[in-house]
Amino acid sequence: MRTERLFPDQTGIARAAALLAQGQVVAIPTETVYGLAGDARDGLAVARIYEAKGRPSFNPLIVHVPDLDAARQIADLSPQADILAAAFWPGALTLVLPLRADAGIASLVTAGLPTVAIRVPAHPVARALLRLAGPLAAPSANASGRISPTSADHVLDPDGGLDGRIAAVLDAGPCPVGLESTIVGWPGGRATLLRPGGIPAEAIAAALGRPLADHQADPSAPNAPGQLTSHYAPQATLRLNAAAPAPGETHIAFAAPGPFTLSDTGDLTQAAARLFDTLRRADREGRPIAVAPIPNHGLGAAINDRLRRAAAPRA
Ligand code: TXA
Ligand code: MG
Repeated sequence: MRTERLFPDQTGIARAAALLAQGQVVAIPTETVYGLAGDARDGLAVARIYEAKGRPSFNPLIVHVPDLDAARQIADLSPQADILAAAFWPGALTLVLPLRADAGIASLVTAGLPTVAIRVPAHPVARALLRLAGPLAAPSANASGRISPTSADHVLDPDGGLDGRIAAVLDAGPCPVGLESTIVGWPGGRATLLRPGGIPAEAIAAALGRPLADHQADPSAPNAPGQLTSHYAPQATLRLNAAAPAPGETHIAFAAPGPFTLSDTGDLTQAAARLFDTLRRADREGRPIAVAPIPNHGLGAAINDRLRRAAAPRA
């Protein structure tokens, strides 16, 4: 299959919508990372997503919709979910909600779960496409276990990317947030952080007026699929909290200048936006990677989560 690179104007967006209507899969820009989209109502299209990624099929996908009304047709929003949707949609927040019986979503999307992960992305190109083509199931547009893509070049990377495996990529340049969405669910009835991400947990707790329960802190909670320990993995080994590199290591700095610094000014938002691209560039040096300590507040919590997964022993 030849993968088309589409310009993100009306013509390109219409072409992407036409391919999706045919059951093809298309990589699309969102404000967080590039997603590998397929029509969420079409089981065959969803199967093509798993196939292109080489992803274990027990891992359910996020459904992307153009607005809150579209979300209500798929899932039931509790009063707390309404508060979070009003505060953060469109944006980098995914809510895990009870799936409506009449949602019309392919069961492969939810891996048969009674809940569905749903989000309204903020990226203007994603929104324009969703008005033509939604709802779209879309995991991050990387091969399973590899680093998430924050540019169309990452999606098509000759080394481990999806070139030739997908119909098209809608190229809208780099993703402004650079980290996947924050996922919140209500597994035990309480609002729970299932995955740290592009919206700081503190901001979500402030909107709710109470702290989020921490999923990782409760080993008895049902496992959020996708919380596989090794994830987002570069080829190289990764050493964390390394103030300085050992001989032979490539150093990813946080606030100090250098070829692999996450932010010259110590800004966590900039560091998040650069994280995955910096990991990819450092990986190409072919040496072990040492990463400087990253402050753990705000987006730093999500950055550290991704770094721990990248550093975890591989299966
Ligand atoms: O920013 C993002 O969230 C990106 C863009 C493309 O929207 N998408 C993304 O998708 O990161 P993915 O598939 O890489 O991660 C989806 C996460 C997985 O950890 C998955 O297990 C979890 O959402 N998830 C999906 N449905 C779920 C459900 N019903 N219950 C619990 N977790 C669920
Ligand atoms: Mg992913």
